[in-house]
Amino acid sequence: MPHSPRKRIIIKKPGGHDALQITDDRIGPPAPGEAQVEVKACGVNFADIAVRLGLYRAAKDLYPLTPGLEFSGVVREVGEEVHEFSEGDRVFGVCRFGGYASSINCPSHQLWPMPEAWSYEKGATFAVVYLTAYYGIHHVGHLSEPDKVLLHSAAGGVGTAALHLLRINGNFCAAVVGRSHKREAAAKAGADLVIDKETQDLWAEAEKASPEGWDLILDANGASTLKGSYEHLRPQGRLIIYGFASMFSPSGKKNIPKLLWYYLKTPRFSPFDLTTSNKTVAGFNLIYLFDKVEPFRKIMEILLRWDAKGLLPSMPVKSYAFEEAAKAHRDLESGQTIGKLVLTI
Ligand SMILES: NC(=O)c1ccc[n+]([C@@H]2O[C@H](COP(=O)([O-])OP(=O)(O)OC[C@H]3O[C@@H](n4cnc5c(N)ncnc54)[C@H](OP(=O)(O)O)[C@@H]3O)[C@@H](O)[C@H]2O)c1
Repeated sequence: MPHSPRKRIIIKKPGGHDALQITDDRIGPPAPGEAQVEVKACGVNFADIAVRLGLYRAAKDLYPLTPGLEFSGVVREVGEEVHEFSEGDRVFGVCRFGGYASSINCPSHQLWPMPEAWSYEKGATFAVVYLTAYYGIHHVGHLSEPDKVLLHSAAGGVGTAALHLLRINGNFCAAVVGRSHKREAAAKAGADLVIDKETQDLWAEAEKASPEGWDLILDANGASTLKGSYEHLRPQGRLIIYGFASMFSPSGKKNIPKLLWYYLKTPRFSPFDLTTSNKTVAGFNLIYLFDKVEPFRKIMEILLRWDAKGLLPSMPVKSYAFEEAAKAHRDLESGQTIGKLVLTI
C-alpha cells in the first residue's frame, strides 16, 4: 500500500504543553513483522509527561518524537511474516513511543486482539497499567497470600489496576491517596483501608494499621515518600519503586531547583542496612521489557482471562479529543485525576 496520510503529535524539542504539536504527514507500509493499525484511541500515561519534558531516559536521543505507549484501533495492513492478524481486526497494543497518532506500524508481538465487549477507550487504557501492576506485584514484589500491602497513589491508573489485582488475591491493602476526593474511588477499587494524605498523617495511620510494618510497599512517588516507605517495611518486606511522580510540577514546566532538591532528597539505600534489616528494595521500568515477548504475553493471557471472568472491575476513564492532548497532560500533572486518561481520534 502506498504511503497514507496521518495525523500525529510530535515533540520536536522537550518542553511545556505547547511542545505537543499536531502534524500532518504520511505513514509508510508496515515492515516485515509489523502490522499497521488505524488508531482509534491512545492511552495517556505519566511517562508521557516525562517524555514531553525531556526527563525520560529511554527517550533521550529520540527527538523529534511522537509520545504514547499504548493504543487501540483496527488493523489496516500487515507486513510480511505476520499471520496472526489481518485487515479489519480490532486490536490493542503497546509501543515504545508513537501512540499519539492516527496510525502506527507496530511489531505484531506487541498487539493483542481486542475482546468483543471492549470499547476502544478500554483497549487503549488496559495494557500499561495492568502489565505494570501485575509485574510489580507478582514478578518483582513476589506477593504471597498473607502479605499486607501499602500502595501509594492508589486512585491513579496503575494504582487502580493494582487494587483490582490485589483484590483478586485477597491481600490486605492500605491505599494511600493525595486528595480527599479520591477516597471513594480507592475504596470502590478494593482498598481495605484508605489513607488520605490531605487530612491524615500518612505514616501515623500506616503504623496504626500495621504496627509490625508492611510486607510489600508499591511506591511511584519518589523522594516525597521513599524514605518513609523503606522505614515502614517489616523484616523481609519489599519496597518496589517504579516512578518518581513527586519530582514534577503542576506548572507543566521543568522546575530545575525542585528537580535538584528532589534528586538530593532521594534516599540512597545502604547495603549494610538492607542486610541487617532483611529488607529488599527493587525497581523496574516496563518499557525496557517490551521486547521480552514471552513474559509479557503470559501476563496478558492471565489478565485477559481474569477480565473475561469479570474479575477486573471497570477502570474510571476520562476521554479527551486528540486535539486536547495538552489539556490531558495538564490534568494528569495536577495530581487530581482518578483512573486513566485517554485521547480519542
Ligand atoms: N516503571 C514502570 O514501568 C511504570 C509504568 C507505568 C507507570 N509508572 C509510574 O507509575 C506512576 C503512576 O502512573 P500513572 O500513569 O498511573 O499516573 P497516575 O497514578 O494516574 O497519576 C500520578 C499520581 O501521582 C501522584 N503524585 C505525586 N506527586 C505528584 C506530582 N508532583 N505531580 C503529579 N502527581 C503526583 C498523584 O496521586 P496522589 O496524590 O493520590 O498520590 C497523581 O495522581 C507514575 O509515577 C508513573 O511514572 C511506571
